[in-house]
Amino acid sequence: MKVIGVGDVERNAGGQLRVEVGDTVTPLARDRARELNVTFVAAPAAGGRPDYIGTPAAAFEEAVPTAPNDPPAGSLYRRGAPVVSASTDPQSVGPGPRPGGRVAVVGAGHVGVTTAMRLAECDLFGEIVMIDPVAGLAEGLALDLTHSSSLQRFGTALAGSSDPAEAAGADYAVVTAGRPRQPGMSRSDLLRVNAEIISAVSADIRAHSPDATVLVVTNPLDEMTALAQRETGFPPERVVGMAGVLDAARFCALVALAAGGRAEDVSALALGSHGAEMVIPLSQARVAGQPITSVLDGATLAQITERARNSGAEVVGLLQKGSAYYAPAASVAKMVLAMAQGSDEVLGACVQADGSYGISGTYLGLPVRLGAGGVAEVVNLDLTGPELAELRVAAERIEERFSTLAGG
Ligand code: NAI
Ligand code: 2OP
Repeated sequence: MKVIGVGDVERNAGGQLRVEVGDTVTPLARDRARELNVTFVAAPAAGGRPDYIGTPAAAFEEAVPTAPNDPPAGSLYRRGAPVVSASTDPQSVGPGPRPGGRVAVVGAGHVGVTTAMRLAECDLFGEIVMIDPVAGLAEGLALDLTHSSSLQRFGTALAGSSDPAEAAGADYAVVTAGRPRQPGMSRSDLLRVNAEIISAVSADIRAHSPDATVLVVTNPLDEMTALAQRETGFPPERVVGMAGVLDAARFCALVALAAGGRAEDVSALALGSHGAEMVIPLSQARVAGQPITSVLDGATLAQITERARNSGAEVVGLLQKGSAYYAPAASVAKMVLAMAQGSDEVLGACVQADGSYGISGTYLGLPVRLGAGGVAEVVNLDLTGPELAELRVAAERIEERFSTLAGG
């Protein structure tokens, strides 16, 4: 038994998808199947012939009413929301957590609370617990979000505490604890001040949620992710950092502004470091399926890449107090969902290099597939020579900065 989601449908656009009795096809996947002309095909019953073949998606529910589980309640049937059938056997949801899993969000500041809100509104997890040392902050924000549950139609429970033990047994720990950048401050300026916080938070996670997959957001991102892995002692695949999803999203938004059209029709990866050594391999970037270099000229692409690299500082300069949080939180939520639901999408994530691209041991942005246990796979892309060289320089610079931390 498995859940067939929109990703499965998109990979079979114009073709067929096998569905076995007991499988769940999400409502969103059914919508997408109609749009993409995907035909559901019943798998043969044991020892028998298929019940039917070639049923178009539009007729699927009528033709085989018992094959997919019923769609979930209407409140869950929102386009864009991840959908898990209420009748789904928790063990059948694939490698992700049980529906009802627990997410700890450590740090209930701007990014933390916005992440908690986005995850709660997905209505996938059982509980989200925010932890913050500021008395009453996490509790107050959790209560505020809880008050929105009937309006936003979610059943996820929210809690907040200043006691890290309250997040015990988390499946995922999102770490946003720390100081944000102030105007004129580089991410590396934050290195020492946030290293202390990450070390303390890592010890708490190790003590209270020894099986959690950790997603680090705190800056400087690459170094803090490496530190969290060292201080938790967790296997490297279970400690991942968020930056590439955000940097790529910024690039896509800027391309859409320059070229017209919708940002979601632009695909790109951001690798390397979250900062000066960010690498956007244009060889991998597409606009509506076309190579980006055939849509925009080199000078424009260079300008957009540079603006994407500096977008965090651009927002800091405008806000004058604190840093970006809407796009960062959306990026975190995308990664947590990719892990919880299992996703074939290749995303840029800060992970420990496994020898791919000639880099070993360093934490930096690489293309990966994510699953319940964090990194499912580092994906080998056919980068150009200069792109590969930039990636290796990023690894060297991150390693230099990380080695300045005590105990490194
Ligand atoms: P914020 O200042 O709004 O929130 C930080 C929160 O962490 C505060 O509420 C603070 O009380 C809390 N905190 C401090 N020590 C803690 C501890 N030991 N345990 C739990 N909580 C603790 O900052 P914001 O805007 O939410 O940013 C958080 C971090 O994320 C910053 O380091 C920022 O630079 C980084 N960031 C990283 C991004 C990325 O792409 N990786 C994007 C955006 C922000
Ligand atoms: C950003 O890129 C501050 O790293 C954070 O917005």
